[in-house]
Amino acid sequence: MNVLHVDSSILGENSVSRAVSAAVVARLRASHPDSRVTYRDVAADPLPYLTAPLAFTLGKPADQVPAAISADAAALRAVLEEVLAADVIVVGAPMYNFGIPSQLKTWLDALAVVGVTFRYSSTGAEGLLGSKRLVIASSQGGFYRAGTPTAGFEHQESHLRSFFAFLGVKNIQAVRAEGTKVSAGADDHGLPVALQQAAALSFA
Ligand SMILES: Cc1cc2nc3c(=O)[nH]c(=O)nc-3n(C[C@H](O)[C@H](O)[C@H](O)COP(=O)(O)O)c2cc1C
Repeated sequence: MNVLHVDSSILGENSVSRAVSAAVVARLRASHPDSRVTYRDVAADPLPYLTAPLAFTLGKPADQVPAAISADAAALRAVLEEVLAADVIVVGAPMYNFGIPSQLKTWLDALAVVGVTFRYSSTGAEGLLGSKRLVIASSQGGFYRAGTPTAGFEHQESHLRSFFAFLGVKNIQAVRAEGTKVSAGADDHGLPVALQQAAALSFA
């Protein structure tokens, strides 16, 4: 099993989502000791922002990319190839300003490639990543479940779910540490529950 483990928190070793994503990957390794895990930290190693020249060359081989953008294009091509090679994608995703970190959005921007991860058919857009599984290792300072007063502010997990659903991924789960900032000085409320959820995940 090929596993892609992505982290995006800016908070380094104090990060809650990093603890959750690590627990998910530990669970995966325990159930599939032969797993090959590729790790990418988009906060420590930010990707280049998408520009028009980069957007127009996404998914193209290196010899079709202008020299002026070859390094940035290669960086984006590398993340695309990591996703294409993965059976399971584990994404550490904190909520920042009600959405995902901008570094993680830049990672997403490298992945929507027509003809590679989705295509246009007679019935509209069709995702091509249907065989993959996504686990979102989520952390949220507050509470955003359906029925809570702030449910409509949630654009983090829902963004990732929509994006990967567009690419055809059907098997999507979230392991969530919520309410991590419910009181001053407390950074990890909700983490124990998420770690239990991670340990209970089943990877057939
Ligand atoms: C820059 C920044 C923005 C944040 N914005 C929100 C927010 O909009 N809503 C929320 O509930 N929590 C917010 N938080 C709190 C984080 O979601 C919470 O602390 C989470 O556990 C952080 O995960 P991490 O430790 O993996 O980075 C924010 C934290 C930071 C650092």
